[in-house]
Amino acid sequence: MGRRGPKAAGQVLSSAIVANFTYMGSKKLLAPQIADLVADMADGPFLDLFSGIAAVGSQISTQRPIWCNDVQNFSTLLTSQKFCAARAFKTANELVESAKIPYAVNQTRLEEKFGETLAHERRALASGSAEGTREVITIMSQVDKQISALRRQQVHCLLTGSHGATYFGVRQAIELDSIRYAADHLLSRGKVTAEEHGWMVLALCQTLSTVSNSTGHFAQYLSPSDANIRRVLRKRRMNCWSVWSAALRESQPIGNVVWRRGNRIFKSDAIRLLQSLSERVGQPAVIYADPPYTSDQYSRYYHVLENAVLYDYPEVSGKGQYRPDRFTSGFSLKAGVDAAFKELISAAAKLPAVFILSYPTNGLLKNSTKRVLELLADQFAHVEAPLVIPHLHSTMGGSKGAQKHAVDENIFVAYQDPVARWRGKAAATLATQRTQPILKVEDIAA
Ligand SMILES: C[S@@+](CC[C@H](N)C(=O)[O-])C[C@H]1O[C@@H](n2cnc3c(N)ncnc32)[C@H](O)[C@@H]1O
Repeated sequence: MGRRGPKAAGQVLSSAIVANFTYMGSKKLLAPQIADLVADMADGPFLDLFSGIAAVGSQISTQRPIWCNDVQNFSTLLTSQKFCAARAFKTANELVESAKIPYAVNQTRLEEKFGETLAHERRALASGSAEGTREVITIMSQVDKQISALRRQQVHCLLTGSHGATYFGVRQAIELDSIRYAADHLLSRGKVTAEEHGWMVLALCQTLSTVSNSTGHFAQYLSPSDANIRRVLRKRRMNCWSVWSAALRESQPIGNVVWRRGNRIFKSDAIRLLQSLSERVGQPAVIYADPPYTSDQYSRYYHVLENAVLYDYPEVSGKGQYRPDRFTSGFSLKAGVDAAFKELISAAAKLPAVFILSYPTNGLLKNSTKRVLELLADQFAHVEAPLVIPHLHSTMGGSKGAQKHAVDENIFVAYQDPVARWRGKAAATLATQRTQPILKVEDIAA
């Protein structure tokens, strides 16, 4: 085992910093207000239709069943593990231990193959040279043949071949591939369950996000330059095994097993999903729609996570090293966004659920406040004046430039049946009246 293998990594486990998932357009900051709004609505499943990292579903949590949907495989993995795990996750330490040997096997094979490149990378990192770091990118752009040979020998090398020296250092990409190898190896030998494998891959995604040499998404890696080399080096020096094992140890599903049994995960185009929901297959009580609001296609910003989840060796292309099978969302097309809203609202209006829509006043849909209210009024019996919440959008250096962007977020609410909208409120009012004496006791105790 090399100096940078799991043993060495183990010494710094406790100090490994694992970033929580960041996600473009995440509603983490708005989630408490949306959850308050939902608390007044009829009991029944909450469908987070464009779930991403499911900030809102996580906030509502065990108050009602949560259904999640997104087209991205990464989101499906995250929400399946968090909302539907059949068991509490208590085996992280054992998994880290069992992963050490298969990890080292794959790592050693890759280190043998890329020995010279690794030495070049080490020199560049030690000297802090942007030019040296760029040279490694050039070397790695010529490795296709080696990768085919490695694959024939059952060595896991997707991230090294596709993103080594760009989003990740070569050493880091080798570590990341070796983590995935360990997870797959243990699964194929029946040493871990599919659910434990899911936790291992999700922690791998968290590791990718933490160590990636980019602005928090994967639209492009940062080309090393004299201006950014300190930042590049800081990322490049992170040890993936340490970050991964710490992330795995922190992994937990939400709620208890009984609640999670009632949750559902879909991976579908949002409009198609709404069109497919009938009484027979089940219907939500509340639909929460948080569609993309810029022309940035999520599939172009999170493709590296898709690669880590699917691990299917796509033919990558372009500076961002994109997959060929990227989903194109109508909500992110200037020419398609109006039609996408029309179809979404029409499909939602055919269901008995309360429909909640988050959209910023400056989104891709032109004059969105007026246009959305028009479309809602066409299809729903009741449309409320939008709740306007000042919000900071996490653009994360997307096409809008700055990392944080001050906007007004409109929260639209529409429904056919007032009982669905307010039934919870009546119940909540009664509950408050009933709990008055308990509140008094708490006051006295304080
Ligand atoms: C604004 S983000 C949602 C963020 C989420 N509310 C959160 O807080 O994490 C939009 C999400 O919609 C997904 N998406 C885009 N078009 C879609 C479509 N037509 N059907 C389903 N999901 C879609 C994207 O993959 C992305 O995860």
